[in-house]
Amino acid sequence: MAILFTHIKELLQTRPQSEVKVMGTAMADLPHIKNAFLRIQGDEILDFGPMADVVIQETDEVVDVTGKLILPAWCDSHSHVVYAGDRSQEFVDRLKGLSYEAIAARGGGILNSAETLQNTCEDSLYTQSMERVKALIQLGTGALEIKSGYGLSTEAELKMLCVIKKIKETAPLKVKATFLGAHAIPKLYKDNKKDYIDLIINQMLPEIDRQKLADFVDVFCEKNYFSLEDTERILEAAAQYNLVPKIHVNQFNAFGGVGLGVKHKALSVDHLEVVTDKDLKDLKNTNTMPVALPGCSFFLGIPYTPVRKLMDSGMPVALASDFNPGSAPSGNMNFVVSLACIKMNMTPEEAINAATLNGAYAMDISDTHGSITKGKKANLIITKNMTSFRQIPYHFANNPIHKVMINGTFVD
Ligand code: NIG
Ligand code: FE
Repeated sequence: MAILFTHIKELLQTRPQSEVKVMGTAMADLPHIKNAFLRIQGDEILDFGPMADVVIQETDEVVDVTGKLILPAWCDSHSHVVYAGDRSQEFVDRLKGLSYEAIAARGGGILNSAETLQNTCEDSLYTQSMERVKALIQLGTGALEIKSGYGLSTEAELKMLCVIKKIKETAPLKVKATFLGAHAIPKLYKDNKKDYIDLIINQMLPEIDRQKLADFVDVFCEKNYFSLEDTERILEAAAQYNLVPKIHVNQFNAFGGVGLGVKHKALSVDHLEVVTDKDLKDLKNTNTMPVALPGCSFFLGIPYTPVRKLMDSGMPVALASDFNPGSAPSGNMNFVVSLACIKMNMTPEEAINAATLNGAYAMDISDTHGSITKGKKANLIITKNMTSFRQIPYHFANNPIHKVMINGTFVD
Protein backbone atom coordinates (compact mmCIF):
# COMPACT_ATOMS: atom_id res chain seq x y z
CA MET A 1 0.00 0.00 0.00
CA ALA A 2 1.31 3.45 -0.91
CA ILE A 3 -0.08 6.84 0.08
CA LEU A 4 -0.58 9.15 -2.87
CA PHE A 5 -1.09 12.85 -2.16
CA THR A 6 -2.79 14.55 -5.11
CA HIS A 7 -3.54 18.16 -6.11
CA ILE A 8 -0.84 19.58 -3.80
CA LYS A 9 -1.04 23.33 -4.34
CA GLU A 10 2.74 23.67 -3.88
CA LEU A 11 5.19 20.85 -3.17
CA LEU A 12 8.15 22.66 -1.63
CA GLN A 13 11.87 21.96 -1.31
CA THR A 14 12.10 19.38 -4.11
CA ARG A 15 15.78 18.54 -4.58
CA PRO A 16 18.11 15.87 -5.90
CA GLN A 17 19.90 13.65 -3.36
CA SER A 18 23.21 15.31 -4.23
CA GLU A 19 22.24 18.66 -2.64
CA VAL A 20 23.16 18.43 1.04
CA LYS A 21 22.98 22.15 1.92
CA VAL A 22 22.08 25.49 0.35
CA MET A 23 24.54 28.41 0.39
CA GLY A 24 24.68 32.15 -0.29
CA THR A 25 22.53 33.47 -3.13
CA ALA A 26 21.20 29.95 -3.82
CA MET A 27 19.29 30.22 -0.53
CA ALA A 28 16.92 32.66 -2.26
CA ASP A 29 15.62 29.79 -4.37
CA LEU A 30 13.14 27.30 -2.93
CA PRO A 31 12.56 24.68 -5.63
CA HIS A 32 8.91 23.70 -5.84
CA ILE A 33 6.25 22.15 -8.05
CA LYS A 34 2.79 23.69 -8.34
CA ASN A 35 -0.22 21.33 -8.56
CA ALA A 36 1.87 18.31 -7.67
CA PHE A 37 1.55 14.70 -6.53
CA LEU A 38 3.68 12.87 -3.97
CA ARG A 39 3.78 9.11 -3.37
CA ILE A 40 4.94 7.58 -0.07
CA GLN A 41 5.84 3.92 0.34
CA GLY A 42 6.51 2.69 3.87
CA ASP A 43 8.59 5.36 5.60
CA GLU A 44 10.08 6.82 2.40
CA ILE A 45 9.30 9.20 -0.43
CA LEU A 46 8.84 7.08 -3.53
CA ASP A 47 7.94 9.52 -6.25
CA PHE A 48 6.68 13.04 -6.97
CA GLY A 49 6.01 15.38 -9.85
CA PRO A 50 3.37 17.54 -11.55
CA MET A 51 -0.23 16.27 -11.45
CA ALA A 52 -0.14 16.06 -15.24
CA ASP A 53 2.28 13.12 -14.89
CA VAL A 54 0.49 11.14 -12.15
CA VAL A 55 -0.56 7.56 -12.83
CA ILE A 56 -2.83 6.29 -10.06
CA GLN A 57 -2.13 2.68 -9.17
CA GLU A 58 -4.40 0.08 -7.58
CA THR A 59 -2.21 -0.02 -4.49
CA ASP A 60 -2.49 3.75 -3.92
CA GLU A 61 -4.44 5.17 -1.00
CA VAL A 62 -5.30 8.55 -2.48
CA VAL A 63 -5.30 11.65 -0.25
CA ASP A 64 -6.56 14.74 -2.08
CA VAL A 65 -4.97 17.86 -0.53
CA THR A 66 -6.44 20.51 -2.80
CA GLY A 67 -5.55 23.99 -1.51
CA LYS A 68 -2.78 22.74 0.77
CA LEU A 69 1.01 22.83 0.53
CA ILE A 70 3.45 20.07 1.45
CA LEU A 71 6.98 20.68 2.66
CA PRO A 72 9.59 18.64 4.53
CA ALA A 73 9.13 18.64 8.31
CA TRP A 74 11.34 21.12 10.19
CA CYS A 75 14.85 19.98 11.12
CA ASP A 76 15.67 21.65 14.44
CA SER A 77 19.41 21.22 14.92
CA HIS A 78 19.83 22.91 18.34
CA SER A 79 17.68 22.25 21.39
CA HIS A 80 17.87 21.73 25.14
CA VAL A 81 14.39 20.19 25.30
CA VAL A 82 15.37 17.77 28.09
CA TYR A 83 15.14 19.83 31.30
CA ALA A 84 13.27 19.75 34.59
CA GLY A 85 10.86 22.36 35.92
CA ASP A 86 11.06 25.84 34.42
CA ARG A 87 12.59 29.25 35.05
CA SER A 88 9.47 31.42 34.86
CA GLN A 89 10.50 33.16 38.10
CA GLU A 90 13.76 34.30 36.46
CA PHE A 91 11.70 35.43 33.47
CA VAL A 92 9.74 37.74 35.76
CA ASP A 93 12.98 38.92 37.41
CA ARG A 94 14.25 39.86 33.97
CA LEU A 95 11.06 41.74 33.17
CA LYS A 96 11.70 43.74 36.35
CA GLY A 97 15.15 44.74 35.12
CA LEU A 98 17.71 42.04 35.96
CA SER A 99 19.81 40.92 32.99
CA TYR A 100 20.31 37.29 31.90
CA GLU A 101 23.98 37.64 32.84
CA ALA A 102 23.14 39.13 36.27
CA ILE A 103 20.74 36.25 37.00
CA ALA A 104 23.48 33.76 36.09
CA ALA A 105 26.04 35.64 38.20
CA ARG A 106 23.85 35.31 41.32
CA GLY A 107 23.79 31.52 40.85
CA GLY A 108 20.63 31.29 38.77
CA GLY A 109 20.37 30.47 35.09
CA ILE A 110 21.91 27.19 33.96
CA LEU A 111 22.94 26.36 37.56
CA ASN A 112 19.33 26.80 38.67
CA SER A 113 18.18 24.30 36.00
CA ALA A 114 21.03 21.94 36.99
CA GLU A 115 19.92 21.91 40.62
CA THR A 116 16.32 21.13 39.64
CA LEU A 117 17.43 18.41 37.25
CA GLN A 118 19.75 16.78 39.79
CA ASN A 119 16.74 16.48 42.11
CA THR A 120 14.46 15.01 39.45
CA CYS A 121 14.36 11.26 38.82
CA GLU A 122 14.97 9.87 35.34
CA ASP A 123 11.34 8.80 34.83
CA SER A 124 9.98 12.22 35.65
CA LEU A 125 12.61 13.91 33.46
CA TYR A 126 11.60 11.63 30.59
CA THR A 127 7.88 12.32 31.09
CA GLN A 128 8.36 16.11 31.26
CA SER A 129 10.65 16.15 28.22
CA MET A 130 8.61 13.73 26.12
CA GLU A 131 5.54 15.90 26.57
CA ARG A 132 7.48 18.79 24.99
CA VAL A 133 8.79 16.60 22.18
CA LYS A 134 5.25 15.45 21.33
CA ALA A 135 4.11 19.06 21.17
CA LEU A 136 7.01 19.90 18.85
CA ILE A 137 6.07 17.09 16.47
CA GLN A 138 2.53 18.53 16.27
CA LEU A 139 4.17 21.82 15.32
CA GLY A 140 5.97 20.18 12.41
CA THR A 141 9.38 19.20 13.79
CA GLY A 142 10.51 15.92 12.26
CA ALA A 143 14.15 15.85 13.38
CA LEU A 144 15.58 17.26 16.59
CA GLU A 145 19.00 17.59 18.15
CA ILE A 146 18.91 17.44 21.96
CA LYS A 147 21.75 18.49 24.26
CA SER A 148 22.70 17.47 27.75
CA GLY A 149 24.20 20.23 29.92
CA TYR A 150 21.75 20.68 32.78
CA GLY A 151 23.33 17.83 34.75
CA LEU A 152 26.84 19.16 35.39
CA SER A 153 27.81 16.06 37.38
CA THR A 154 28.70 12.68 35.92
CA GLU A 155 25.56 11.09 37.32
CA ALA A 156 23.20 13.83 36.18
CA GLU A 157 24.78 14.24 32.73
CA LEU A 158 24.39 10.49 32.20
CA LYS A 159 20.79 10.72 33.42
CA MET A 160 20.09 13.40 30.79
CA LEU A 161 21.78 11.42 28.03
CA CYS A 162 19.84 8.27 29.01
CA VAL A 163 16.61 10.26 28.76
CA ILE A 164 17.66 11.54 25.31
CA LYS A 165 18.40 7.94 24.31
CA LYS A 166 14.95 6.87 25.50
CA ILE A 167 13.35 9.69 23.50
CA LYS A 168 15.35 8.49 20.47
CA GLU A 169 13.90 5.01 20.97
CA THR A 170 10.31 5.98 21.72
CA ALA A 171 9.50 9.18 19.82
CA PRO A 172 8.72 8.89 16.11
CA LEU A 173 10.94 11.80 15.07
CA LYS A 174 14.68 11.57 14.29
CA VAL A 175 16.82 12.48 17.33
CA LYS A 176 20.53 13.30 17.59
CA ALA A 177 22.21 13.53 21.02
CA THR A 178 24.85 16.08 21.98
CA PHE A 179 27.01 15.96 25.12
CA LEU A 180 27.21 19.48 26.61
CA GLY A 181 28.88 18.79 29.97
CA ALA A 182 30.72 22.11 29.47
CA HIS A 183 27.56 24.22 29.65
CA ALA A 184 28.46 26.02 32.89
CA ILE A 185 30.86 25.62 35.78
CA PRO A 186 28.99 23.81 38.58
CA LYS A 187 28.84 25.44 42.04
CA LEU A 188 31.11 22.76 43.47
CA TYR A 189 33.90 23.73 41.05
CA LYS A 190 33.30 27.49 41.21
CA ASP A 191 36.93 28.19 42.08
CA ASN A 192 38.37 25.24 40.27
CA LYS A 193 37.22 25.11 36.69
CA LYS A 194 40.20 23.00 35.68
CA ASP A 195 39.05 20.14 37.91
CA TYR A 196 35.60 20.22 36.33
CA ILE A 197 37.14 20.04 32.84
CA ASP A 198 39.28 17.13 34.07
CA LEU A 199 36.08 15.43 35.23
CA ILE A 200 34.51 15.95 31.81
CA ILE A 201 37.58 14.54 30.08
CA ASN A 202 38.53 11.72 32.42
CA GLN A 203 35.17 10.53 33.68
CA MET A 204 32.22 11.73 31.63
CA LEU A 205 33.56 11.31 28.09
CA PRO A 206 34.87 7.72 28.56
CA GLU A 207 31.57 6.60 30.15
CA ILE A 208 29.47 8.33 27.49
CA ASP A 209 31.59 6.59 24.87
CA ARG A 210 31.25 3.23 26.62
CA GLN A 211 27.45 3.54 26.64
CA LYS A 212 27.38 5.20 23.18
CA LEU A 213 25.16 8.00 24.46
CA ALA A 214 26.23 10.93 22.27
CA ASP A 215 26.57 11.76 18.58
CA PHE A 216 28.16 15.19 19.05
CA VAL A 217 30.02 17.30 21.62
CA ASP A 218 29.24 20.91 22.53
CA VAL A 219 30.88 23.59 24.71
CA PHE A 220 29.47 26.98 25.78
CA CYS A 221 32.49 29.01 24.63
CA GLU A 222 31.80 32.35 26.30
CA LYS A 223 33.19 34.78 28.90
CA ASN A 224 32.57 33.48 32.45
CA TYR A 225 31.92 30.01 31.01
CA PHE A 226 34.56 28.22 28.92
CA SER A 227 37.54 29.94 27.30
CA LEU A 228 39.16 29.10 23.97
CA GLU A 229 41.76 26.99 25.82
CA ASP A 230 39.08 25.13 27.82
CA THR A 231 37.04 24.55 24.67
CA GLU A 232 40.05 23.24 22.76
CA ARG A 233 40.95 20.79 25.55
CA ILE A 234 37.42 19.38 25.54
CA LEU A 235 37.15 19.19 21.74
CA GLU A 236 40.52 17.41 21.53
CA ALA A 237 39.47 14.88 24.17
CA ALA A 238 36.09 14.31 22.51
CA ALA A 239 37.76 13.77 19.13
CA GLN A 240 39.36 10.63 20.53
CA TYR A 241 35.82 9.23 20.82
CA ASN A 242 34.88 10.53 17.35
CA LEU A 243 32.48 13.12 18.75
CA VAL A 244 32.16 15.90 16.18
CA PRO A 245 31.75 19.43 17.65
CA LYS A 246 28.63 21.59 17.43
CA ILE A 247 29.47 24.52 19.64
CA HIS A 248 27.88 27.56 21.31
CA VAL A 249 29.92 30.59 20.20
CA ASN A 250 29.60 34.38 19.98
CA GLN A 251 26.36 34.67 21.96
CA PHE A 252 27.56 37.71 23.89
CA ASN A 253 31.25 38.08 23.00
CA ALA A 254 33.37 37.31 19.94
CA PHE A 255 36.88 36.18 20.81
CA GLY A 256 37.80 33.49 18.31
CA GLY A 257 35.33 30.68 19.05
CA VAL A 258 34.26 30.53 15.41
CA GLY A 259 37.83 30.02 14.18
CA LEU A 260 38.40 27.40 16.85
CA GLY A 261 35.27 25.53 15.79
CA VAL A 262 36.37 25.60 12.16
CA LYS A 263 39.85 24.40 13.15
CA HIS A 264 38.27 21.41 14.89
CA LYS A 265 35.98 20.73 11.90
CA ALA A 266 32.82 21.60 13.81
CA LEU A 267 29.66 20.50 12.05
CA SER A 268 28.09 23.75 13.19
CA VAL A 269 28.80 26.93 15.13
CA ASP A 270 25.67 28.16 16.84
CA HIS A 271 24.31 31.51 18.14
CA LEU A 272 26.58 34.07 16.40
CA GLU A 273 24.66 37.07 17.70
CA VAL A 274 28.03 38.88 17.50
CA VAL A 275 30.03 38.28 14.31
CA THR A 276 33.36 39.91 13.42
CA ASP A 277 35.02 40.21 9.99
CA LYS A 278 37.56 37.67 11.22
CA ASP A 279 34.72 35.22 12.01
CA LEU A 280 33.34 35.66 8.48
CA LYS A 281 36.79 34.99 7.04
CA ASP A 282 37.26 31.92 9.24
CA LEU A 283 33.89 30.46 8.27
CA LYS A 284 34.04 31.07 4.53
CA ASN A 285 34.62 28.02 2.33
CA THR A 286 34.43 25.56 5.21
CA ASN A 287 32.10 22.66 5.91
CA THR A 288 30.91 24.26 9.17
CA MET A 289 27.28 25.40 9.22
CA PRO A 290 26.47 28.70 10.95
CA VAL A 291 23.27 28.28 12.98
CA ALA A 292 21.08 31.23 14.00
CA LEU A 293 18.72 31.01 16.98
CA PRO A 294 16.31 33.95 16.65
CA GLY A 295 14.03 32.66 19.43
CA CYS A 296 16.85 33.33 21.90
CA SER A 297 17.43 36.87 20.58
CA PHE A 298 13.68 37.52 20.77
CA PHE A 299 13.28 36.22 24.32
CA LEU A 300 16.43 37.84 25.77
CA GLY A 301 16.25 41.03 23.73
CA ILE A 302 19.80 40.58 22.44
CA PRO A 303 21.00 41.24 18.87
CA TYR A 304 19.90 38.92 16.09
CA THR A 305 22.50 36.95 14.14
CA PRO A 306 23.53 38.98 11.05
CA VAL A 307 22.41 36.26 8.66
CA ARG A 308 22.24 38.59 5.65
CA LYS A 309 25.94 39.29 6.07
CA LEU A 310 26.65 35.54 6.20
CA MET A 311 24.52 34.76 3.15
CA ASP A 312 25.88 37.76 1.22
CA SER A 313 29.37 36.34 1.83
CA GLY A 314 28.27 33.12 0.12
CA MET A 315 27.68 31.11 3.28
CA PRO A 316 24.82 28.83 4.24
CA VAL A 317 22.69 29.51 7.35
CA ALA A 318 20.57 27.10 9.38
CA LEU A 319 17.78 28.09 11.76
CA ALA A 320 17.08 26.27 15.03
CA SER A 321 14.93 26.85 18.10
CA ASP A 322 17.46 26.61 20.97
CA PHE A 323 14.41 25.43 23.01
CA ASN A 324 15.54 25.73 26.66
CA PRO A 325 14.11 27.01 29.96
CA GLY A 326 16.31 30.11 30.22
CA SER A 327 16.89 31.86 26.93
CA ALA A 328 14.30 30.38 24.54
CA PRO A 329 11.37 28.56 26.17
CA SER A 330 9.69 27.66 22.88
CA GLY A 331 10.56 25.10 20.23
CA ASN A 332 8.00 26.29 17.70
CA MET A 333 9.89 26.26 14.40
CA ASN A 334 7.00 27.96 12.58
CA PHE A 335 7.59 30.97 14.81
CA VAL A 336 11.38 30.68 14.37
CA VAL A 337 10.88 30.89 10.58
CA SER A 338 8.64 33.96 11.05
CA LEU A 339 11.17 35.64 13.32
CA ALA A 340 13.95 34.96 10.83
CA CYS A 341 11.99 36.85 8.20
CA ILE A 342 10.64 39.64 10.38
CA LYS A 343 13.74 40.32 12.49
CA MET A 344 16.65 39.12 10.34
CA ASN A 345 15.27 40.00 6.91
CA MET A 346 15.47 36.52 5.51
CA THR A 347 13.05 35.91 2.68
CA PRO A 348 10.52 33.08 3.19
CA GLU A 349 12.54 31.01 0.68
CA GLU A 350 15.77 31.53 2.64
CA ALA A 351 14.14 30.84 6.00
CA ILE A 352 12.53 27.60 4.79
CA ASN A 353 15.84 26.42 3.29
CA ALA A 354 17.53 27.25 6.61
CA ALA A 355 14.96 25.37 8.71
CA THR A 356 14.82 22.24 6.55
CA LEU A 357 17.82 21.14 4.44
CA ASN A 358 20.42 23.28 6.24
CA GLY A 359 19.04 22.19 9.62
CA ALA A 360 19.40 18.58 8.49
CA TYR A 361 23.00 19.28 7.45
CA ALA A 362 23.71 20.71 10.93
CA MET A 363 22.67 17.30 12.35
CA ASP A 364 24.52 15.30 9.68
CA ILE A 365 21.27 13.81 8.39
CA SER A 366 20.82 15.65 5.11
CA ASP A 367 21.20 12.36 3.22
CA THR A 368 17.86 11.22 4.70
CA HIS A 369 16.02 14.37 5.86
CA GLY A 370 15.37 18.01 5.01
CA SER A 371 14.04 17.89 1.45
CA ILE A 372 11.48 16.25 -0.82
CA THR A 373 13.80 13.76 -2.45
CA LYS A 374 13.17 10.21 -3.66
CA GLY A 375 14.38 7.78 -1.00
CA LYS A 376 14.41 10.31 1.85
CA LYS A 377 12.22 9.81 4.92
CA ALA A 378 8.57 10.74 4.50
CA ASN A 379 8.67 13.49 7.14
CA LEU A 380 6.13 16.02 5.94
CA ILE A 381 4.17 19.09 6.90
CA ILE A 382 0.78 19.33 5.20
CA THR A 383 -0.33 22.92 5.65
CA LYS A 384 -3.78 24.35 6.10
CA ASN A 385 -5.25 25.94 2.97
CA MET A 386 -3.08 28.88 1.95
CA THR A 387 -2.24 30.89 -1.15
CA SER A 388 1.55 30.36 -1.00
CA PHE A 389 4.38 29.36 1.32
CA ARG A 390 4.92 33.06 2.05
CA GLN A 391 1.93 32.85 4.37
CA ILE A 392 3.86 30.56 6.73
CA PRO A 393 6.12 33.36 8.06
CA TYR A 394 3.64 36.14 7.24
CA HIS A 395 0.96 34.98 9.68
CA PHE A 396 3.40 35.03 12.60
CA ALA A 397 2.51 33.05 15.73
CA ASN A 398 -0.21 31.29 13.74
CA ASN A 399 -0.22 27.52 13.36
CA PRO A 400 0.06 26.84 9.62
CA ILE A 401 -0.19 23.08 10.04
CA HIS A 402 -3.05 20.82 8.95
CA LYS A 403 -1.27 17.49 9.50
CA VAL A 404 2.21 16.13 10.14
CA MET A 405 3.59 12.87 8.77
CA ILE A 406 6.67 11.26 10.32
CA ASN A 407 8.29 8.23 8.67
CA GLY A 408 5.23 7.73 6.47
CA THR A 409 2.73 7.75 9.37
CA PHE A 410 0.31 10.56 10.21
CA VAL A 411 0.80 11.99 13.68
CA ASP A 412 -2.42 12.18 15.73
O1 NIG B 1 21.85 28.26 24.02
N1 NIG B 1 23.93 29.74 25.95
C1 NIG B 1 23.94 28.68 26.51
N2 NIG B 1 22.94 27.82 26.60
C2 NIG B 1 21.57 28.08 26.31
C3 NIG B 1 20.88 28.76 27.43
C4 NIG B 1 20.82 27.93 28.61
C5 NIG B 1 19.98 28.45 29.74
O2 NIG B 1 19.85 29.66 29.97
O3 NIG B 1 19.45 27.58 30.42
C6 NIG B 1 21.44 28.83 25.01
O4 NIG B 1 20.96 29.96 24.96
FE1 FE C 1 21.76 26.50 23.17
